[in-house]
Amino acid sequence: MQIHLFPRLALFALPGVLLTPLSLAGEDTERAISAILEKMSVEEKAGQMTQLTLGALSSSESNSGDPDGHELDPDKLRNAIVKKHVGSVLNVHNMAFSVTHWHKILTQIQDLATKETRHRIPVLYGIDSVHGANYVRGATLFPHNLGLAATRNAKLVEQCHAITARETRAAGIPWNFGPSLDVGRQPLWSRYVETFGEDVHISSVMATASVRGLQGESLSSKTSVAATAKHFLGYSFPLSGQDRTQSLLPEHYLREYFLPPFIRAVEQNVQAVMVNSSEINGIPLHASHEMLTKLLREEMNFKGVIVTDWEDVKKLHNLHKVAPNIKEAVRLSVEAGIDICMAPNDFHFTNNLIQLVREKLVPEEALDASVRRILRLKFSLGLFDSPYPDPASANKIGTKEAHALSARAARESLVLLKNDDALPLSKECKILLTGPGCHSLSALHGSWSYTWQGTDEAAYPEPLQTVLESFNARHGRDNVLWARGAQWDGSTDLDYALRKARNADVIVCVLAEKPGTETPGNISDLSMPENQLRLVRHLATGKPLILVLLGNRPRLITKVAGHCHAIIHAGHPGPHGGEALYEVLTGQFNPTGRLPFTYPRNPHSLLSYDHKHSDSIGPDKETPGFNPLYEFGHGLSYTTFHYDNLEVPATPLDKNDKLRLSVDVTNTGKRKGTETVHVFIRDLFASVVPPVKRLRAFRQVDLSPGETKRVTFEIPVTDLSYFGLENSLVLEPGEFEVMIGGLKKRIAVH
Ligand code: BGC
Repeated sequence: MQIHLFPRLALFALPGVLLTPLSLAGEDTERAISAILEKMSVEEKAGQMTQLTLGALSSSESNSGDPDGHELDPDKLRNAIVKKHVGSVLNVHNMAFSVTHWHKILTQIQDLATKETRHRIPVLYGIDSVHGANYVRGATLFPHNLGLAATRNAKLVEQCHAITARETRAAGIPWNFGPSLDVGRQPLWSRYVETFGEDVHISSVMATASVRGLQGESLSSKTSVAATAKHFLGYSFPLSGQDRTQSLLPEHYLREYFLPPFIRAVEQNVQAVMVNSSEINGIPLHASHEMLTKLLREEMNFKGVIVTDWEDVKKLHNLHKVAPNIKEAVRLSVEAGIDICMAPNDFHFTNNLIQLVREKLVPEEALDASVRRILRLKFSLGLFDSPYPDPASANKIGTKEAHALSARAARESLVLLKNDDALPLSKECKILLTGPGCHSLSALHGSWSYTWQGTDEAAYPEPLQTVLESFNARHGRDNVLWARGAQWDGSTDLDYALRKARNADVIVCVLAEKPGTETPGNISDLSMPENQLRLVRHLATGKPLILVLLGNRPRLITKVAGHCHAIIHAGHPGPHGGEALYEVLTGQFNPTGRLPFTYPRNPHSLLSYDHKHSDSIGPDKETPGFNPLYEFGHGLSYTTFHYDNLEVPATPLDKNDKLRLSVDVTNTGKRKGTETVHVFIRDLFASVVPPVKRLRAFRQVDLSPGETKRVTFEIPVTDLSYFGLENSLVLEPGEFEVMIGGLKKRIAVH
């Protein structure tokens, strides 16, 4: 029998975490908004709901090499802001600008908006600060979210996002299109590295941390930005693995695995939500009243601004084919519940919306509700008081302290997957660095780094170091040899690499996939490119061979893993990736990272750790059905840990109880180390087929050699519930198994 606990969302709230009531602006502000709204024409309202890209406002000569050579086109700007009443602008033009240039163009835009329009409404500028303020030259970049999830350090994740906010705002930009809260359950997907990995619990914890970090204590503070939870909803699970293609997701599955991070973000008062460009179960999200209004607004009580993704209203007509013309596409999207259309190149949305209101096909009240939310956000950000960038903020960018934090995040993001006593390396050994990642800044940073795809090496600022440069600086040039060995264009120079290897004591092979995101990042084969695998095989000569993996997602390395004495997953660790790798390889830093995803062994086995029991059945006894190369949560240290004395409640628990667990963790090695204790729980029997286990809590513990600490957890029993076929949370009486560090015990719920 199923006990239906509460209708849907009530149970999402973690005990102890009160659902923060959304602080609507104060009464005075609401009155000020009403006063503006009363005087606004339909044209002005439609303009406020329109967002254009900077390129549409820039001079056509702006495409030359120097990014700061970019210029706004006065006529285009005036037409957009004064004539068409555009309320929001986004993006950079080609590549990252300096703070000075950002200040210059934002001042020009705000001058026009606040001095030459009827209601003097400031413009809301938005940008993708995906892993640091990546479109501001000189800003501090961080590991991508996947690496941040590997740190298992929510406090650190919050701090990284706080720096991102500070440096974005220092450029004068008050609105970030992040964090990405898509749960990464499809490793082929080109935006995998932008996710916090495959687990919904980790993604939820990191959602809270990242929104907190970005929005800070007060939105009007010059160190905070408005955050955007994106992309609502189910974007990261495309059936084909290709970006912006359909997902098929039953509602209970959607609620179980994809919705919770967004709920956490709404609890944290996230100011905006961006819509998934694609479709779920045949309905594009931009046309889904069910998703945007019923679920997000009414059920989740989201009061902020819903922004479309790039050109997605138009695409309801010309790509998804659910609207016979663009006018109907606009009507559908407004009916679904969007507030701002990222148009972003023209006025198709604005013009059609005005027409639809005139023809009474869209009620003007719908525009009023959206414009109220937009104006409220502008008020909350303090733009009505001071729309201009702060000239004194340039020195808040790229500080020593921010870089120290990025270096720490990079170190903690590295996951030691294998170590056959090859690591740590001695300080004296001669190292051969090889592979396409060993001398490339883009391989360390990934997409959204100074340019959209991150592939333009010339766009990276001077002092940044590649892996090779970091090793040269720390290990001494005489002790570092290098040979690229394999390139991204598929070519190799294996013999040269092999010749160099003869003079080295150890070979560090830095394989890397070429960075990419969205459609340009699509791949149809998860295998590591063949020329890179050939390089590893060629260098397997018996000398210690260390494999370092840079990239967007887990590329298959099964064919060469056996040749390697040690393997490190590094993802896109950012500007300090090179030094972090050196510190881990030489043992100056004892690795702490844990995989936030399942590392697949085979191309067609892309299951996550929380699969079903039937997925574990293989063709015969020796061949398991679920047999990843490395398990979710895996990550070695230079010390070892032992678990003992797992204690669980002896008597059956009630749904209002807390599940109290404790376990001893001992450092049994010779070095100080940090262990992440993961608590997995399995429902032994349930009315809907239960997964083999689900992560319900995790905690890090620092241990000196020989030290034992008792680690305790208090997990609300309601966290043992799941979404049943009626799409609400159910908790079924019965037995559950708690699994921590190889220990197992049963508990009962009545
Ligand atoms: C991406 C979004 C991004 C937007 C604005 C889109 O193509 O999907 O994640 O925020 O562009 O740059």
